[in-house]
Amino acid sequence: MKRSSTVLWAAAGGACLALSVAFAAVSAGNPVEDRQATMKAVGQAMKEGAGINSPATFDAAKAKTLMDGVAADAKKLHGLYPAGSDKDPKTAADPKIWDNKADFDKRLTEMATLASTAGKATTADAFKPAYAAVGATCKSCHDLYRKKKS
Ligand code: HEC
Repeated sequence: MKRSSTVLWAAAGGACLALSVAFAAVSAGNPVEDRQATMKAVGQAMKEGAGINSPATFDAAKAKTLMDGVAADAKKLHGLYPAGSDKDPKTAADPKIWDNKADFDKRLTEMATLASTAGKATTADAFKPAYAAVGATCKSCHDLYRKKKS
């Protein structure tokens, strides 16, 4: 009797250890932190984009680097909204995202497409509307799917 309960405890301890290892693996790649950091990088690129959005300051090479970065980040963001990640207390993502995941993903695809178009601009005149179109995708998605700061 005594012996079998020792075995039971050992087994329970092992299961516990396995669980905490699994948890560590998940939290190492926290999707909420990843998407917030990625959005921040996108925000920074858009800010730098504003700096070259005039005939006097336009720089085609820089436009390409910045906007290709935004496009790549938009693609990356697709994988950073797993189901259940609206429960994280630190997220500003609206739970509506997961009721409308197809629409949300479509918006990210559009953001990527418009950003790569803006990256191909070789003149300030071409960049201006293309850059504005990218900015419009940010705002319309935030209005729908990002919780307002209280
Ligand atoms: C498809 C929807 C969508 C698009 C498009 C989008 N965002 Fe976001 N953005 C979100 C959501 C949702 C959050 C909240 C993420 C969270 O807190 O988990 C967010 C958060 C942010 C944040 C705050 C990050 C932080 O520090 O927590 C910034 C900055 C940002 N977005 C910038 C942008 C810019 C700039 C663009 C356009 C180039 C853009 N976003 C396009 C949905 C979108």
